[in-house]
Amino acid sequence: MKFFVDTAEVDAIAELNDLGMVDGVTTNPSLIMKSGRDILEVTKEIAAMVDGPVSAEVVALEADQMIEEGRKLAKIAENIAVKVPLTWDGLKACKVLSDEGNMVNVTLCFSVNQALLAAKAGATFISPFIGRLDDINLDGMELIADIRTVYDNFGFETQILAASIRSVNHIADSARIGADVITAPPNVIKAMASHPLTDKGLATFMADWEKTGQKIL
Ligand code: E4P
Repeated sequence: MKFFVDTAEVDAIAELNDLGMVDGVTTNPSLIMKSGRDILEVTKEIAAMVDGPVSAEVVALEADQMIEEGRKLAKIAENIAVKVPLTWDGLKACKVLSDEGNMVNVTLCFSVNQALLAAKAGATFISPFIGRLDDINLDGMELIADIRTVYDNFGFETQILAASIRSVNHIADSARIGADVITAPPNVIKAMASHPLTDKGLATFMADWEKTGQKIL
């Protein structure tokens, strides 16, 4: 399973990238706003740092303008995935941009039917939003499982990019279900290393080591 980092914070991406944890990056208008950076400038910097796909989102609402914005974003670097919303216009833009050879990430997916349409329109990635479904008492993980089943039923090659991840359990469950990619904030990826029994075991080892009076260095 591939790990994308869901942020436009360059330092956080660099730290994870140095550890080999970054197969790609996703951004959105809210994350660009939080970074305080210019979209073209920060996307170029991230795309130069990371080997895999870097999603940059269009902000137009009509297909023609989405396509123009997508072409401009795609020119930033070869590894840009143009992100379009899962609207009818977004699907039109997806078809044109993917036919032109661009990677397209169709975002804001909340149903299997939406995921089917994105696959038919040639999406490289479909981004179902787990956390935002959980927020309204629906089951985000069930959507990931349903899309996996339906894509496998028909051999769609669109990659399932589990998004809006809020917890380490979302990552483990996405892996169990067979999502192709997860995108998560840096703090959630780092939290995957934590376990209370690891902390407890280490504390015991350190206390016992102290008693030996030995040193390694
Ligand atoms: C995905 O590409 C989105 O940027 C992101 O996962 C949205 O997450 P949120 O629902 O926590 O804002």
